[in-house]
Amino acid sequence: MGKKISSKHDVAGRKLIYQIYPTAIGDLRDIKDALPLIAKLKPDYIWLNPIFVSPWVDGGYDVADYCKIDPRFGTMADFKRLVAEAKKYNIGILLDLVLNHTSNQHPWFQKSIMHDSWYKDYYVWLDKPLNWNSFFGGPAFDYEARRGEYYLHLYDQSQPDLNFKNPRVVHEFKNIIKFWKDQGVAGFRVDSANILTERNLKHGMIPRLSGFFSYYQPKDTVQILDKLLAQEDLFTIAEPVGGNFMSKKTFRGLTQNAFNAAFNIGTLDVADTYMSNKESIRPINYKRWLTKLADWSQESKFSLALESHDTPRAVSRFNANPKALCMLQFCLPGNYPCIYQGQELGTKNAHLSNNIDDYPGVQSRMIYRHLRREGKTKKEAMRIVKHTSRDNARQPIDWGDYLLQSKNPDSVLGFYYQMLEIWRNDPVMAEGKLKVRYIGAQGVMNFNRVLGDRSYFVHIDLTGKTASYLRNDKGEKILQTR
Ligand code: GLC
Repeated sequence: MGKKISSKHDVAGRKLIYQIYPTAIGDLRDIKDALPLIAKLKPDYIWLNPIFVSPWVDGGYDVADYCKIDPRFGTMADFKRLVAEAKKYNIGILLDLVLNHTSNQHPWFQKSIMHDSWYKDYYVWLDKPLNWNSFFGGPAFDYEARRGEYYLHLYDQSQPDLNFKNPRVVHEFKNIIKFWKDQGVAGFRVDSANILTERNLKHGMIPRLSGFFSYYQPKDTVQILDKLLAQEDLFTIAEPVGGNFMSKKTFRGLTQNAFNAAFNIGTLDVADTYMSNKESIRPINYKRWLTKLADWSQESKFSLALESHDTPRAVSRFNANPKALCMLQFCLPGNYPCIYQGQELGTKNAHLSNNIDDYPGVQSRMIYRHLRREGKTKKEAMRIVKHTSRDNARQPIDWGDYLLQSKNPDSVLGFYYQMLEIWRNDPVMAEGKLKVRYIGAQGVMNFNRVLGDRSYFVHIDLTGKTASYLRNDKGEKILQTR
């Protein structure tokens, strides 16, 4: 009989998460200094994108040492000070746990290459490559001459996939989780959480299509994650990969024990992309997007996010009014919404350069190469990259603007403060059932939230042409965009 896994009810409940892409703020001391302003939103958790030692090929998602802070962010003492200071504001720090792969600079990989007897099966090695494609373009198997074999990398070639069928790998992460718990972290956001184990190591995978998932073993992955994460006193949130195709079954499997909550980036992608493909600019399909969002918002463990370090800015992407977007995120049901730094200021896409060499992101450069190979002109390729690039949302925060907006109730930030008070305190917003009334093709949506004999009416117009508002059952507007 296997040991019964404890569920995560102890830290369940409604939580607001605030995501920080650390280089956009500075180092750990800068993040600590920003706490008084960020704390005004009253987040329960701050999720930091990776801050571990890394060669930084993929913004820190290529980890070379999971238990050391990258010097660009400071020291372990700085980290502990940040944790302690955040605690004063009742904010827990969540770290980004990159399980699926390491950097090729990680000592585990270096030893695995050399057939070290302990480490040789830490990664997915094959003597013949399969024809799989990586998410970042090009083949997913690369030859390593010193080992004389091919290794799997679902992302960049510098990010070899770990072999989670090897109990030693699972054990390593048990220790890593314990290490950070001892440093005072409140939990983790887990990267690429549903693709840790491959079912079929054979030809035929086309990652951008739904067939991709037949190569993965959700059940095995979930069992591993349950063992690693189902501890009552850590808050855990999954980033499953799956684009438009992620099923509720997969989602519920992940959130049953291992995770308190999970994202589904596919709920945004249905608006304008196919399997997160960023190689074309498509018109926004508001109806499809808002219908999907409304449906998923009713999953109690769904984390509703409108942007992240992996997307362009929502205001630019959806051509939307920032206050209307705020109402969309916080008037739909949702227990674990996540705000991406700067979203609360109405930040738009950055003014990115026309020269691809200026782009730090490995993905932007990959997209550019693809588009050029397909015959697009430089100008056309750059137009697409500038619109879809995740580098758009990885730019420094304007703290001067932040301070000004924080004092102005009419600003976007002022509006977030008002909306969040209602989100946090109003039982109809917390528990009311969703009744969708209307979803139009142009970004207008009407719905009710109903709790017992109380009912709210919400009108959202993403174009900003009409005011968006929240009206109570007495007909009073308790919040409106202008
Ligand atoms: C996740 C991260 C993304 C990263 C990828 C590879 O999707 O959010 O930024 O590039 O994993 O680690």
